Amino acid sequence: MPAKVLTNEDLSKMVDTSDEWITTRTGIKERRIAAPDEATSDMAAEAARRAMRDAGVKTEEIQLIIVATVTSDMAFPSTACIVQKKIGASNAVCFDVSAACSGFLYALQVARHFINTGNRTTALVIGAEKLSSLVNWKDRNTCVLFGDGAGAVVIRKACEKEVTDAQGRVLSTVMGSDGNLVDLLKVPGGGSACPLTAENIVERPNTIHMEGRETFKHAVTRMLEASQQALEIAGLTAADVSLVIPHQANARIIGAIAERLNLPNEKVFMNLDKYGNTSAATIPVALDEARRAGLIHKGDVILLVAFGGGFTWASSVIRW
Ligand code: ACO
Repeated sequence: MPAKVLTNEDLSKMVDTSDEWITTRTGIKERRIAAPDEATSDMAAEAARRAMRDAGVKTEEIQLIIVATVTSDMAFPSTACIVQKKIGASNAVCFDVSAACSGFLYALQVARHFINTGNRTTALVIGAEKLSSLVNWKDRNTCVLFGDGAGAVVIRKACEKEVTDAQGRVLSTVMGSDGNLVDLLKVPGGGSACPLTAENIVERPNTIHMEGRETFKHAVTRMLEASQQALEIAGLTAADVSLVIPHQANARIIGAIAERLNLPNEKVFMNLDKYGNTSAATIPVALDEARRAGLIHKGDVILLVAFGGGFTWASSVIRW
């Protein structure tokens, strides 16, 4: 995570808001903001280095790098190629995945397919965002919600003899999209449909536009459905889940899903109070923090679930 902390108190000096409003509506207390010269690829590369160190994997063993992001360093090349250069992973094939807040789980599933087909054996899957570069800092509806950060995992094909119930693996994944709802959450300008011009820049089309209330409703419905489907495919129920790591957008969304799954608070991980919504980065960052906090043990069933612009949604059940 970047070093700079932006608190609700700081934001209340920038727009007409308050710590009380942000805390009660979202659960967010503060977020991290990348330095002006700190790009998405810098945070992604650092997360990748730490993940490789943690996994005991050498850079030359990495055969695939997928970066999930909506805040790529530039239109092209991909942020994954820039990360490849920064970490020196010269044996990897690299590309980005764009699925907004569901990006990390989409990327994880893509990597899983590469591994399951035998095409690649060791992959880096990274969720990284510099959302502060897409935020309209004058719009209180959105600027209080987002932050910057990156998280990464190394996933690897298990040897045949290792594939037992005692071994960690992805048990199931479900994904969905509804392109009819593209307009509810988007950055309308800065792409080919609406290039930035000297005239339109004053309207800030290159910033996040969101219908918050509608997004909220779809997020709860879709994340609940995806979680139930992923558990069913894995042959499990919510009662088997040791820990849920949901996308960290809003504590009320997470609470609504936990309640419908009948899961107690202690089985639902939240760190959005510290980081806000970092889009594709929330799940890998939360996964790392939960593990370091001793909340994840070998053999545990972990439920990951996300929802984002598109709309997109996804859920994975993992045996740790
Ligand atoms: N401070 C004070 N007042 C505010 C603020 C603020 N920061 N923001 C909005 N308000 C006001 C609104 O103007 C509105 O006032 P009005 O009633 O006079 O018009 C009032 O507060 C209530 O606004 P609502 O939109 O009804 O507030 P809601 O309870 O829905 O909370 C929120 C808004 C937090 C945005 C919520 O709708 C939400 O979390 N939505 C989902 C976000 C999400 O999950 N995004 C998905 C992923 S993001 C991605 O993919 C990049």
